[in-house]
Amino acid sequence: MFQNTQSLPHLLPPSAYSCPEQYGREFERLFGPAWHLIATTAELARDGDFVTAEILGQPVIVRNFAGELRAFLNVCTHRHAQLTHCRHGNSPKLKCQYHGWEYKADGSTGYIPDAQSFRPLPGGPELLKPFRVATRGPLVLVCLDDGAQDLPEHLGAAATAVCDRFPAERWRHYASWSYDFAVNWKVVVENTIESYHVPIVHPHTLVRYGAPEQITHEIYPRSTVMHAPIVVPGIYRQLFNLLMPRLEPDRNPDRYRLDHVFPNLFLIPIDAMMQVMDVMPTGAESCKLTVRLFILKAARETFVTRRITAFWGWLKKLVIRQVLREDARIYPALHRGLKASPFQGTISIREELIFAFQEYVRREAGEQRRPETGD
Ligand code: FES
Ligand SMILES: [Fe+2]
Repeated sequence: MFQNTQSLPHLLPPSAYSCPEQYGREFERLFGPAWHLIATTAELARDGDFVTAEILGQPVIVRNFAGELRAFLNVCTHRHAQLTHCRHGNSPKLKCQYHGWEYKADGSTGYIPDAQSFRPLPGGPELLKPFRVATRGPLVLVCLDDGAQDLPEHLGAAATAVCDRFPAERWRHYASWSYDFAVNWKVVVENTIESYHVPIVHPHTLVRYGAPEQITHEIYPRSTVMHAPIVVPGIYRQLFNLLMPRLEPDRNPDRYRLDHVFPNLFLIPIDAMMQVMDVMPTGAESCKLTVRLFILKAARETFVTRRITAFWGWLKKLVIRQVLREDARIYPALHRGLKASPFQGTISIREELIFAFQEYVRREAGEQRRPETGD
């Protein structure tokens, strides 16, 4: 059932979906203190593995130092080069690509070529700028704000439990991919957390939404959870019944759960899959959606169960890409409509998770002043 009994106001005005000042406040107050997905544990499993990414306009590197993950600003203290521009890789040392300065796990310098030519160093070499990094399940996240809360508090108990349901080693990172959309990030978020559009936008893939009594919404100050039914075709159920017991006995094909960790992280566990998505703003009117797809491995893998995991990944990726393509088709129309809308808007109780999200945006980012009307 839904938590509200009456329809709700659309709290954010249409201008909040393109206004540069609103975007600036959201960037600083919502995204600044958040934890951001940067890699999977599999990408950083070995000593020397590293991953780089641009997070909130900052170049960040995460590296495995003998089993310990460390995150730094990907900028050298010598003359400011990016330490590496590779997206990921493995290196015996954390070494700058320009003049070869090497760095240790604490960010201090190790070997410096021709070190005597730097003597005397005023105050000694500077440390690399560290960031907090933490893992949860198969996910590696970083936080650029030293004063922000720790990862478990950021995720909340519900999403933490989803990450912890299986140990990281049980997940195979099957695929990751991204989309650039010319819409405000909140458009993609709000589309993801409501199923009201399903019969119209996904008539052949998701078919229909559940009856109110089949749906449960959990609403917390910084996250929401939706539990809902899925209508699966007969052939899918046959495949599921045939294959899933080989991976994990108690999986259920008929229900899905969607955890939204505010502002922009989604965990969607369905049967033997966990779909993880994050929406990063790239401007007031653009964003990037990244999808990471994990499939369960059998507790004791065999040749056959590896094939089943791979097949399930292939099937899920096919369906997810189709569903996201269908959603993407509506975004330009939403963007154009929001830019021209004179309306207040309204939110049904089926869409109440959007109301909870908008309450959070308004509370944390501050009120968007409505344009003056009349005289
Ligand atoms: S800029 Fe990195 S070693 Fe010179
Ligand atoms: Fe959709």
